[in-house]
Amino acid sequence: MTAELLNGRELSDELKEEMKHEVEILKQQNIHPHLTVILVGDNPASKSYVKGKEKACDFTGISSNLIELPESVSEQELLQVIEGQNNDKDVHGILVQLPLPDHIDEQKVIHAISPLKDVDGFHPVNIGKLVNGEETFLPCTPYGILTMLESKNIEIEGKRAVIIGRSNIVGKPMGLLLLERNATVTYCHSRTQNLRELALEADILVVAMGREHAVDGSYVKEGAVVIDVGINRMDNGKLTGDVEFESAKEKASYITPVPRGVGPMTITMLLKNTIKAAKGLSEK
Ligand code: GUN
Repeated sequence: MTAELLNGRELSDELKEEMKHEVEILKQQNIHPHLTVILVGDNPASKSYVKGKEKACDFTGISSNLIELPESVSEQELLQVIEGQNNDKDVHGILVQLPLPDHIDEQKVIHAISPLKDVDGFHPVNIGKLVNGEETFLPCTPYGILTMLESKNIEIEGKRAVIIGRSNIVGKPMGLLLLERNATVTYCHSRTQNLRELALEADILVVAMGREHAVDGSYVKEGAVVIDVGINRMDNGKLTGDVEFESAKEKASYITPVPRGVGPMTITMLLKNTIKAAKGLSEK
């Protein structure tokens, strides 16, 4: 079998067109969706992500502002900046780009963002709602993956989903979302034994390890759906995923490329969450 591509770029472009229209209508109702992005320090990858977010906001008519703080900013100062944004009624969404410098407690910062403006879906109140199956802001990467699966009518109910990676941002919420849709979910991570054996059981295999080509076709069951969350820069400067694409695509029924797979969807779902926040809604 040669897999069909799950083209995140294309789907993302379609969704952004729809959102552009939705934002126009909201503006006629005097609702002007606004996202504040807070960037601490000079991490080049973070800077590049933040630029992508600004560009996507511009395209859809969502207004955004970037608050840049020096690497040396104190935790207290950052918390005060967040408090200011929490209290600004014109701001609907707040995103603090991660990672933060070592002297700042990331969890403390996430706790400080109003759950009603937490468009990343990282606040413990929103994670708790996700665990309970209540309406909330869904973390953008898993939400984007789910949207890609749904766009192809890929069945989730009753399927075996194997998630490799247990980060708070991707792996953990991904498993919860698939469980909520009645998949049978297995979490794997760096200490997992017999990783290949477990991966081979997956109907839906989500790989979020952060390690170049950690998984190849020998980990993929014939006909499985393979979702590659990794973004790694190779020695030749090109981007590649956690999955060795060429061998995996020969086994999979669907596969995401890197780039143009999961990445563009993450930003797109951030826009969706910002619009939701502006409407005063969150979604299951
Ligand atoms: N750093 C890497 N991914 C993300 C994300 O989805 N949100 C935030 N805030 N920081 C990130």
